[in-house]
Amino acid sequence: MPDIHGNTEGIRNHMLSEMKALYETAVPADSFLPPELLAQLCDYSASLNREIAVYLTRYGEIVDLIVGRADHVDLPDVRLRRSERRLSMVRCVHTHPGASGALSDVDISALVSMRFDAICAVGVDEDGRPTSAQCAFLDPAVPGAVSRTELISARRMPEEAWLARIAEVDAAYLAEEPAVTKGAEKAVLVGIESEESLAELRALAQTAGADTVLTVLQKRAKPDTAYCVGKGKAEELSLQCQAAQADVVIFDEELSGVMQKNLEELLRLKVVDRTTLILDIFAGRANTREGKLQVEMAQLKYRSQRLLGQGLVLSRLAGGIGTRGPGESKLEVSRRRIRERLTDLERQLDALDRQRSLRRQDREKRQTPVVALVGYTNAGKSTLFNRMTGADVYAKDELFATLDSVSRPITLPHGGAALLVDTVGFIRKLPHELVQAFRATLQEAALANVIVIVSDGANPEMSAQHATVLEVLESLGATDAPRIDALNKADLFRPAPDALPGAVTVSAADGTGVDELLGRIEDALGAGTHTYRLLIPFASYGLLDRLHRAGGIYRQEHRDDGVLVEMRAEERFVKSVCKEGAKLLGDEQS
Ligand code: GTP
Repeated sequence: MPDIHGNTEGIRNHMLSEMKALYETAVPADSFLPPELLAQLCDYSASLNREIAVYLTRYGEIVDLIVGRADHVDLPDVRLRRSERRLSMVRCVHTHPGASGALSDVDISALVSMRFDAICAVGVDEDGRPTSAQCAFLDPAVPGAVSRTELISARRMPEEAWLARIAEVDAAYLAEEPAVTKGAEKAVLVGIESEESLAELRALAQTAGADTVLTVLQKRAKPDTAYCVGKGKAEELSLQCQAAQADVVIFDEELSGVMQKNLEELLRLKVVDRTTLILDIFAGRANTREGKLQVEMAQLKYRSQRLLGQGLVLSRLAGGIGTRGPGESKLEVSRRRIRERLTDLERQLDALDRQRSLRRQDREKRQTPVVALVGYTNAGKSTLFNRMTGADVYAKDELFATLDSVSRPITLPHGGAALLVDTVGFIRKLPHELVQAFRATLQEAALANVIVIVSDGANPEMSAQHATVLEVLESLGATDAPRIDALNKADLFRPAPDALPGAVTVSAADGTGVDELLGRIEDALGAGTHTYRLLIPFASYGLLDRLHRAGGIYRQEHRDDGVLVEMRAEERFVKSVCKEGAKLLGDEQS
């Protein structure tokens, strides 16, 4: 038998069991609310002095019984939704202890957002007798409008007429049901850190396809262990979400399993945290097999730690934020199955990783230097990449447009070749699981010979974003390669000389500064090295191996007197090989 939900604190066990027995009540097809059920609801409501809500389906089942406070009850999402435009097939009847049966504004917005068949309130006097009642239905002619009945005596509910009204409304919706195009989810954003962080969360939500209808900031030094925000704030949030007709609540922090469960129970809405949101965006973006495996791994790892939450609402709703990527059934499997899947994913990723290192070794042999573009999400890396390589990489004003690292050859001003790598954007509070999962991809950037940090010079948060990028690079151990700062979007701002000292100002959009950037890359790659032509006589053939290991060879030719090698190298190195038999043919310093 289902439980009694809501504010059950302090209710004695025997009463709770009695109330649970209400789930067994038979509701005949021609009854809106059986009189005996009404009598019992009023009785419990008066003795507890709390509102009680009951949810009845058209099939005569009671799907939920919820105890609220004296003046309101949080309405759960009990949609048995068939489509966006149809009714939920569930009606809600709830009591108002010590008050009349007039419907409140919150009741009406719940009717609209939950698309209930009907919502009905019943006033209850001190002796537990029903007083007045009012019922409301959606108006199919005007979206968002409702029609309310008069306030009538609760003892004479026109059950037949109300059921007939539900049938009428349903038929009207059915007749005009359009080809369903799912609208954007309506999101309420909740943060405890700062407006800036919330603004970024809003951009993330938008990228994930949700419309933000409300943002709530409660500044706190650390999250409340039960609800992330304070309990009172969470309760207030519940009403705000109903009034805003939200579909999803997105928290700017990582939520523990306990927080998620508590919040879902209280808000009766889908609750998503920042990490889940980012993972969700990644899941929608991954193109390569490796990218997909990496995201699935990160999602499973994250969710397996939070199996506690998510049962309640996610299983009832299909689609939307938090449900992309591995199918829902996959997310609900037991920890053991998750572990098996993770092992499997790790094996597949290892295999890909081996391929990657072979590719890397191959590149190293050919000595093509690697230049990585890294930067905060939306800084313009992909646009710059396209500008520098003439490629057509997906660049969009969305966060994390680039997920898989892409590489293309570029030609440096003096004809040298390099491989340019575009990488996944970084972000504040980048989920740990993602950094782990994308370690291989990100490390490719970390192992580059030169790292170009692209920053959005037009973004007021540029300095903070730059600092985040440096932190992520440190955490990846990318500390050796020379770095070049590129301050992008110069067409949008007037560069302040001290914005990023030493940075090259560029505009990926119109090409300004790109040649200078290429020159700087060339300098960084070639720092301390020169071009040499060396002859390795057959007698000193063993030296060839050393030259190869040093890298830098770009041409090699077999001649009668030995092997001619053209390479870039440091003078020190060339002197030492000459002592061992190599002959210097000419130093064409560039
Ligand atoms: P992620 O994939 O999220 O890491 O983004 P990214 O850094 O690759 O950014 P992307 O190249 O996708 O560019 C983000 C947005 O900025 C796009 O709308 C670009 O058109 C725009 N953009 C990039 N460079 C410039 C520029 O120099 N000037 C202007 N005005 N817009 C730019």
